[in-house]
Amino acid sequence: MISINNLSVSFGGFTLFDQVNFHINDSDRIGLVGRNGSGKTTMLRIIAGVVTPSSGQIQLPGDLTIGYLPQEMDFDKDKRVIDAALEAFSHVKELEDVIARLNFEVADRTDYESEGYHKLLVRLNDATERLSLYTSFNPMAQAEKVLTGLGFHRNELERDRGELSVGWNMRVELAKVLLRSPDILLLDEPTNHLDIESIKWLEEYLSGFRGALILISHDRRFLDVITNRTVEIMLGKIHDYKVPYSRYKELRKERFEQQRAAFDNQQKLIEKTEEFIERFRYKATKSNQVQSRIKQLDKLERIEIEEEDNSALNLRFPPAPRSGQVVVKAEGVAMSFGPKRIFSDVNLIIERGEKIAFLGRNGEGKTTFMRLVTKELLPVAGSITLGHNVSMGYYAQNQEELLDKEDTVLGTLDKVAVGDVRTRLRDILGAFLFKGEDVDKKVKVLSGGERARLAMAKLILKPYNLLALDEPTNHMDLISKDVLKRALQSYEGTLILVSHDRDFLDGLADKVFEFKDGTVREHLGGLSDFLSRKNISTLEQLEDPGPGLQINDNRREELSENLKSEGALSYLQQKEAEREQKRKRSKIEKCEEEIGALEKKIMEIERLLSANDNRVSLPQTLEEYGLLKETLDKKLEEWEKLHD
Ligand SMILES: Nc1ncnc2c1ncn2[C@@H]1O[C@H](COP(=O)(O)OP(=O)(O)OP(=O)(O)O)[C@@H](O)[C@H]1O
Ligand SMILES: [Mg+2]
Repeated sequence: MISINNLSVSFGGFTLFDQVNFHINDSDRIGLVGRNGSGKTTMLRIIAGVVTPSSGQIQLPGDLTIGYLPQEMDFDKDKRVIDAALEAFSHVKELEDVIARLNFEVADRTDYESEGYHKLLVRLNDATERLSLYTSFNPMAQAEKVLTGLGFHRNELERDRGELSVGWNMRVELAKVLLRSPDILLLDEPTNHLDIESIKWLEEYLSGFRGALILISHDRRFLDVITNRTVEIMLGKIHDYKVPYSRYKELRKERFEQQRAAFDNQQKLIEKTEEFIERFRYKATKSNQVQSRIKQLDKLERIEIEEEDNSALNLRFPPAPRSGQVVVKAEGVAMSFGPKRIFSDVNLIIERGEKIAFLGRNGEGKTTFMRLVTKELLPVAGSITLGHNVSMGYYAQNQEELLDKEDTVLGTLDKVAVGDVRTRLRDILGAFLFKGEDVDKKVKVLSGGERARLAMAKLILKPYNLLALDEPTNHMDLISKDVLKRALQSYEGTLILVSHDRDFLDGLADKVFEFKDGTVREHLGGLSDFLSRKNISTLEQLEDPGPGLQINDNRREELSENLKSEGALSYLQQKEAEREQKRKRSKIEKCEEEIGALEKKIMEIERLLSANDNRVSLPQTLEEYGLLKETLDKKLEEWEKLHD
């Protein structure tokens, strides 16, 4: 259906894609995966026609309808939720035009038996079916169904989008894309802002979707349920696997292992041959064998190991002067937006050094509470105070809105950095994986993960003793998430975290504040304590039965697998291997001595023969000569075997 041929994309001197080819079929369900900045979003934008490649072509049928959900988007803040969703049907008119055009074409043709004609009929049929779908259902009812599936309450459909968070606006966009029911859906990290119920709803919806799908996600479970093919982008190339994500991970591991083994074997062979050539280069007796080995080396097709992108950022929060014992104190706090009460009568104290997680459904007020702590918002009742000597670093959920898109990476830090740190900005950016010319990139071209990294870099310019991080892992790939987690584990200040990422929270937070039913409850202990006290083994169980606490199911990737040292030998095995090596070395030495002695003898005879010395008994000497040569060959063979 869509062919991508010899696609290359470069920005300045940097090549993002290098001669990439792949084909998308009608009902493919593709998971597009890769590290932050590998080019996933760019690939979707190219397919969606938003970006043109530097070279190569995209071939797609002219009447193909594409539904594209971007990773980040602008939207009309003044529109009501329901009206925005109904915009999805504005293309009904377009569809009618397409049908008219196809009808016209069909009427015009006479090649009734041809494949082209048949395809035309299929397309016409599809388009007509789609149209009848739109017109047979009440668009309003459809829109409501999708919006409520994505978590909106009925009475929220009339709200202006401007009042909603990025996450909820993303859902409106998603609803719009789904309602269009296109031939191909391109979804760029749709689960980033969804809670578990909405993810499940989306899973079901997509399972029933009949067109093609390309999905970018860092959520393994979601990928496994929905996709049947995985396309990996790594260092400018594409690796295509006709299997879902988990299986792809296995195959990928095998691919690297096999490559490594083949490479190692070939290296050994090359080394051995080179040693042979070096050793016998000047020996007339071996010149044929040497020549043939030189040829052999020349002809050898060298196995290359693919580079793997394992670059990790280097993150450490600088130590800060201590704050007072009480860091945040909330007394009788209540908050509302218009008539909507978020929570009331919240009393809590956060003490120095505590690592707190805010848990709760979307909309229960976690971000709102953070913004009260930062004084960005004022409570409608009660008070929130920061303790003595508290300096707070805040990572807001909507980073994409807060960064100046026209500024450069370096400029962004330059604006906020003061004092000595200004001389180290490039180093800091380097540690956050912005290398060389990357620092001159404009924020607007950065990938989601790169933006998250830049926002994170701002937090280490100053020493803070309180960090308030709202969904810091959104957009981050697994390696980056893990680095952040470790940096926070060794951070000595006070930490407040909002996150839906179970793997991230586990072993990091030591106290949970649960936002539920308009109030906040304190639970001592970490995430697993919290869950077990609720007599629940997994977050899924906790989240499933309706309006309780919700946390996105998460992304147990093979991180632990990555971190495990692979195939480490036990001590005893290692010792045995060392002994074996020693034995082999002494055998080789002995063999080389013998070869040397044989060669000496042979040379001696050759000298005698060529000197035509009449003391030599020719037949006897020749026999001896023959024997010596034979033994030498055997020894050489032995020597080669010892190097295997
Ligand atoms: N117009 C541009 N000029 C320069 N660099 C660009 C431009 N557009 C994209 N890039 C760079 O290309 C790379 C790929 O970006 P892309 O958004 O496709 O990555 P991604 O795989 O979607 O990453 P993420 O997982 O973080 O969303 C990034 O390094 C980005 O900064
Ligand atoms: Mg992206």
